[in-house]
Amino acid sequence: MYNYIETDPEQLEFIQIATTDELQEGERLLIDIEGDYFAVFKVAGEYYAIADLCSHDDGPLAEGDVEGHEVICPRHGARFDMRSGKALTLPAVVDIPAYPVKIEGDAILVGLPLGD
Ligand code: FES
Repeated sequence: MYNYIETDPEQLEFIQIATTDELQEGERLLIDIEGDYFAVFKVAGEYYAIADLCSHDDGPLAEGDVEGHEVICPRHGARFDMRSGKALTLPAVVDIPAYPVKIEGDAILVGLPLGD
């Protein structure tokens, strides 16, 4: 999997997924973009976007509990860092995609790879 946060922004397309009043502190939004599912979280005033697909066995990761910046897969309990997509605990050993988020005015935009 790939951490798009480290990708050249020129290689990404920033898509508005919501406005800031639609995502309050401690909440998450699930987004369907042409059949690909993502989740955007607001934690400690910052926004984070990850793929809604656990790398262990395709669990619905974004439905899991959140502790700090960790998301816990509801299927088997693997933890991921929403800031980087990094797999932190077994049974997951592969990172998940994480995407950059930027705010323009009141718009929340997520950077997705061009062509995907
Ligand atoms: S599917 Fe997520 S830990 Fe198994």
